[in-house]
Amino acid sequence: MSQRSNDVAAAFDDSPIMRQLQDLSARRQRLEETDVDFHGGTRVLTVSNQKGGVGKTTSTVNIAAAIADLGGRVLVIDLDPQGNASTALGIPHSSDTASVYDVLINDMSIADAVQQSPENERLLCLPSTIHLAGAEIELVSQVAREKRLDTALIEYMDGLEEPLDFVFIDCPPSLGLLTINAFSAATEVFLPIQAEYYALEGLSQLLGNVKMIQKHLNPRLKVSTILLTMYDGRTRLAQQVADEVREHFPDEVLQTFIPRSVRVSEAPSFGQTVITYDPNSAGAVAYREAAVEIVKRGAPRKKGKK
Ligand SMILES: Nc1ncnc2c1ncn2[C@@H]1O[C@H](COP(=O)(O)OP(=O)(O)OP(=O)(O)O)[C@@H](O)[C@H]1O
Ligand SMILES: [Mg+2]
Repeated sequence: MSQRSNDVAAAFDDSPIMRQLQDLSARRQRLEETDVDFHGGTRVLTVSNQKGGVGKTTSTVNIAAAIADLGGRVLVIDLDPQGNASTALGIPHSSDTASVYDVLINDMSIADAVQQSPENERLLCLPSTIHLAGAEIELVSQVAREKRLDTALIEYMDGLEEPLDFVFIDCPPSLGLLTINAFSAATEVFLPIQAEYYALEGLSQLLGNVKMIQKHLNPRLKVSTILLTMYDGRTRLAQQVADEVREHFPDEVLQTFIPRSVRVSEAPSFGQTVITYDPNSAGAVAYREAAVEIVKRGAPRKKGKK
């Protein structure tokens, strides 16, 4: 090689893009070498933030798929009438499909509505259909309206031969009866926060609601996991938001943050998670790392047992 092409190669080796690529391949390598254990009962996480478009659904489906890839048995409950989680997991959810609506309103058992995702045999989904849009109102007059999902989930899990390792409930961006059903059925709140302006707005309202649920409906509920999403490390703002979140929630926030990535946003239009669509992309690697962190941290300890 001539001196000039040597110089060009050296400059390229030291360029930000090259360093990023090398970093990504080192992280992929570490993931390949990572082993995780699944034991100690089913963890039920509700993925909630009443702010819209912060990455609740994207985080639900990608972390669920990554955990299934690691060997865990995972159920995703799509509790949003938009049905985006069902779509992203490749699950048919036309209006005549048995769904979470039937479970909540028609006393159908979860076993009769659950479907296996084509992504992975260990990844199950209880889909949502458009009928769910009316459920907020229909639930009002039902007996035990806040606990219907909880009761159905307990019955389903009791009937399983092989226990689930994880249940993720993808909530709509509101704090109505659907979200309250999710809070009642879960033991952990998983809170995705978009690293942008106003990220923390409305958070105190959510935390207040979690407190209220703990007091009146579900004393075991705890905000266990916070994930920074759509993070753009080039902006000072994203770093400031990340610092602020870490300051307020040092124990809950995951080390991994999810970068903004085109691959992540285009995967659902192929009915796939990014874990399948482009497993080596920066977004997929980050979601796989977040999944490992969640599994390794384990369930939060019960109160008084610190
Ligand atoms: N890391 C990412 N990089 C790029 N785009 C992303 C990323 N995460 C999410 N998005 C995109 O941002 C939009 C909102 O994401 P998502 O649907 O997961 O949010 P949500 O909180 O579930 O929204 P809603 O409140 O409507 O349920 C989607 O178009 C999604 O594809
Ligand atoms: Mg959503």
